[in-house]
Amino acid sequence: MNNLASLMIESGVAVITIDNPPVNALGAALRRALFDRLEEAFAAADARAIVLICAGRTFIAGADISELGKPAALPTFFDLFDLIEDGPKPVIAAIHGTALGGGFEFALICHYRVAAQSARVGLPEVNLGVLPGAGGTQRVPRLAGVEAALDIMTSGRHVHAPEALHLGLVDAVVPDQTLRAAAVEFAQQVIRDGALRPRVRDKKGALENIQPALFAEFRKANAQRFRGLKAPDAIITLVESTVSLPFDEGMKREQASFEALVGGRQSAALRYNFFAERETARVPDITADIRPIDIRTVGIIGAGTMGSGIAMAFLNAGLPVTLVETSAAALDRGMSAIRRTYDASAKKGRMTPDQVEQRMRLVNPTIDLDAVGDRDLVIEAVFENIDVKKDVFTRLDGVVRPEAILASNTSFLDLDAIAEATRHPERVIGLHFFSPAHVMRLLEVVRGTQTAKPIVATAMALARKIAKVPVLSRTCPGFIANRLLAPRGTQAEALVLEGTPVALIDRVLFDYGFAMGHFQMMDLVGLDVVGRDADQRTVMGDLVAAGRLGQKQNGGYYDYDGARQATPSVLAEKIIADVARAGGVPHEPTLDEAALIGRLLYPVVNEGAKILEEGIALRASDIDVAAVLGYNWPVYTGGPMFWADSIGLDQVVAGLRQLEARHGNAFRPAELLVRLAARGERFQP
Ligand code: CAA
Repeated sequence: MNNLASLMIESGVAVITIDNPPVNALGAALRRALFDRLEEAFAAADARAIVLICAGRTFIAGADISELGKPAALPTFFDLFDLIEDGPKPVIAAIHGTALGGGFEFALICHYRVAAQSARVGLPEVNLGVLPGAGGTQRVPRLAGVEAALDIMTSGRHVHAPEALHLGLVDAVVPDQTLRAAAVEFAQQVIRDGALRPRVRDKKGALENIQPALFAEFRKANAQRFRGLKAPDAIITLVESTVSLPFDEGMKREQASFEALVGGRQSAALRYNFFAERETARVPDITADIRPIDIRTVGIIGAGTMGSGIAMAFLNAGLPVTLVETSAAALDRGMSAIRRTYDASAKKGRMTPDQVEQRMRLVNPTIDLDAVGDRDLVIEAVFENIDVKKDVFTRLDGVVRPEAILASNTSFLDLDAIAEATRHPERVIGLHFFSPAHVMRLLEVVRGTQTAKPIVATAMALARKIAKVPVLSRTCPGFIANRLLAPRGTQAEALVLEGTPVALIDRVLFDYGFAMGHFQMMDLVGLDVVGRDADQRTVMGDLVAAGRLGQKQNGGYYDYDGARQATPSVLAEKIIADVARAGGVPHEPTLDEAALIGRLLYPVVNEGAKILEEGIALRASDIDVAAVLGYNWPVYTGGPMFWADSIGLDQVVAGLRQLEARHGNAFRPAELLVRLAARGERFQP
């Protein structure tokens, strides 16, 4: 246990090195080791100050998240913190990598903070549904002022060392390679200056002249961003308390709020999601000896919305892209779209003009398919039609090196059929990006029947390289995310035909936590785009026939004013009633909100269970990650499978059986769901 923290004395300074890979999380064992080393350092006659530094890639990245919500083992954070803050010798934190959450709060307990130039600090607890529970809400405002504290804690963003210095969150920034020596030197200077031990809790300057209205204004300005979340409001209340309450009283309140949040459903869901996102990359039969291929160059066929978005995903990671189109005009459109997106980012200050040019230089636009002949990976992003895709793959087969990987961005089609159009089906894989591809973090990696293991390993590793979260799917129509969410749309459309108001269905979904309802989404995407493959009379088809294409033309399910505000549409209602009459659908609206949620979302859970029992997804948590990252399923519910677990699978089965009795087989619960419910089990092991 002792090697978690080691002590060395040099030139009158005790240097304690923390070494708890991978991220030096401050779990119980490390707290014990640190406590012991600190006591030794305090007792050491030949050391008058202490430097705390970390080995490995980062300073302490926080509490050990897997310990949150469980009874705290001794010594607690606070035992350790009291030891440092009131200890007999000044303690200096030497920060590199990321000092996050309890890790940064730990640094704030120290009397001084020295940061490496590339270090970042932050309090990302809000992303786990909790608040900084080790003094962060009380100490950050005392150093950086309430406005910076509100911003940092409600966003969870990482603050780079130079900004942290400017805000007073650290005392010095030094070149990366010199951190240890600079921290020891800093400690020696502190000793020469009288070994003072300033405590953040005693600082007051940043809390003077605060406008009381600021807090209400902050809440109002961010209402949409915080909608549905419990932690931001608690953080604001606690920051506000720093203005009027003594430190110790603020700490008591922080502790009470933390306990309430950490025991709640949202935090459980968000913590689950943290680990679920990291679990997706583990594929049981892709063992460590199967090495991914190093992908250095990429070709993309098609420069439409998907192709240009995928190109940007690679350019952002510094990989050169050959972008192929069939005509110069189409290529120009794609290149202009890329340039426009980058220029807009530069205008918002998200990248420098130099970075824009660097990325543009990495693209090689061409109308010559042969140009991808030497690429390591070629991704097809052409029109979603099996014959078109097969043709592209057959032609690519004659152009690329035999060891190149061929990927399809199909969102729905049979990957095996596409692979058979080549001589090397084992080198074909699906890389299903979600639009806009340079923004959405989900990448469905579709493993065909013949896809070789090293190709799967390569795709999973590549996803991380381009900042995506890979979710592995076997082949089936729609793969995981699209297949999973399809029943929600089917039910929403069935409900309107039965007479349930469009606006009520959308509001129920919005209140559940989705950014918008199903019909608002359809109007936004464009009804001509979504409804074009319908082979029977539908409301969407009739709306399009009436010239209503959605927000972009004459409204769709809703009418829109000049400011794109939606109002219920009399015309759309008439079309709905006509289609219902023609189809003989009885008028029996569902108006009860809980019943609506069951009707819209239980079929999603049921589809998830089928996806799992058919072996399309590896695990229930992968399905949740796909729903959250691909469809903006509210992350604080954990995703459909975690949500179903939390309300009880027996309730979902009972709800589905009722719907089956009334509306037919489409609602029959999946065998897996029935089995788990009968045994009182959950999707999560
Ligand atoms: N606790 C436990 N495990 C953690 C962890 C933590 N705080 N932070 C990271 N890990 C684990 C990850 O699960 C992952 O494990 P596997 O390799 O087994 O999958 C491993 O460390 C590496 O993590 P990443 O893959 O995320 O590595 P990265 O280099 O991409 O990112 C990081 C590193 C920026 C530190 C990122 O891991 C991160 O943001 N971690 C969470 C930080 C955080 O939220 N801290 C606050 C914790 S709550 C708290 O501190 C409460 C309090 O107020 C007292």
